[in-house]
Amino acid sequence: MKLKESIESVRNSFRADSDPFPTDGQSVETLRIKYLGRKGLLSGLFSGMQNIPANDRPEAGQLLNELKHEINALFDSNQNNTDHENSPDDFDYSLPGLKFPIGHIHPLQQTMDEIKTIFMDVGFSVAYGPEVDDDFHNFEALNFPPDHPARDMQDTFFINPKTVLRTHTSNVQIHLMEEQNPPLRYIVPGRVYRNEAISFKSYCLFHQVEGIYVDKHVTFADQKGILEYFVKRMFGANTKMRFRPSFFPFTEPSAEVDIWSDKRKQWLEILGCGMVDPNVFKSVNIDSNIWHGFAFGMGVERICMLKYDIDDIRLFYQGDMRFLGQF
Ligand code: DAH
Repeated sequence: MKLKESIESVRNSFRADSDPFPTDGQSVETLRIKYLGRKGLLSGLFSGMQNIPANDRPEAGQLLNELKHEINALFDSNQNNTDHENSPDDFDYSLPGLKFPIGHIHPLQQTMDEIKTIFMDVGFSVAYGPEVDDDFHNFEALNFPPDHPARDMQDTFFINPKTVLRTHTSNVQIHLMEEQNPPLRYIVPGRVYRNEAISFKSYCLFHQVEGIYVDKHVTFADQKGILEYFVKRMFGANTKMRFRPSFFPFTEPSAEVDIWSDKRKQWLEILGCGMVDPNVFKSVNIDSNIWHGFAFGMGVERICMLKYDIDDIRLFYQGDMRFLGQF
């Protein structure tokens, strides 16, 4: 039987090749592939089984299995004698270590946390309010006339004619004054929505921090002091700033705060503010003869972009680690 002779010859060649058994990993692997590999000698013998007469097969099968066991047994018994490439002795200890990725706090969250800390340090508490709200809280109670352009479909996402995605965090002023009696002093961080064309400078959602301070003797001078303190802590003690007269339906008088940019050689607007309009107090049943207050609102993206010289608002929403990893 030809197969029987072939088995014998593979056995002899294996015994010759494996005496002495190799000690380096590479040669062991070569030997293994030659005999036990998918296209190795043993597998060649197993394929030869098809071509021999059926009544010779049991005997040939037994011989083949014996050979297979012999070969495997020799590999097994030599397993621990092999020098593996990465044995402790030739490990290169100067190789750089593995880097484990560490998470980052998103730059917007960092900026919001910083704003919160600054105001909490001078006695403001933090409050939150609904992102889906009714027309009353987002517009009407804030003294927006019924035909004000901000109510237009162009700017506002409507859930239904009376319910909107809030267009600013000012809605929370109303909730706070409905729920609590003055004095009150809060900042309100949160997400707001506007139906605007997306570009480098505007996005359909963004973040604001609102502030409101109501007490018996609050004046415009208090507002100036607090906001100046905020600007200097946020942008540096030497920051030049100015209050510029402006208009908001819910404050009277109103102003916007600009900071001077040496780099761009221009004033940059950073927030809106003003004294709470008596009509707003009226809508929440607070007596404006007794209570006075100031309010302000700032865009977190805008503050963050100015602080870190970021020129495209969309970067905050793309999850690109090349950008986020820098913070
Ligand atoms: N709500 C205004 C906006 O979204 C920002 C603002 C301005 C808020 C003046 C205020 C304020 O509280 O007093 O543009």
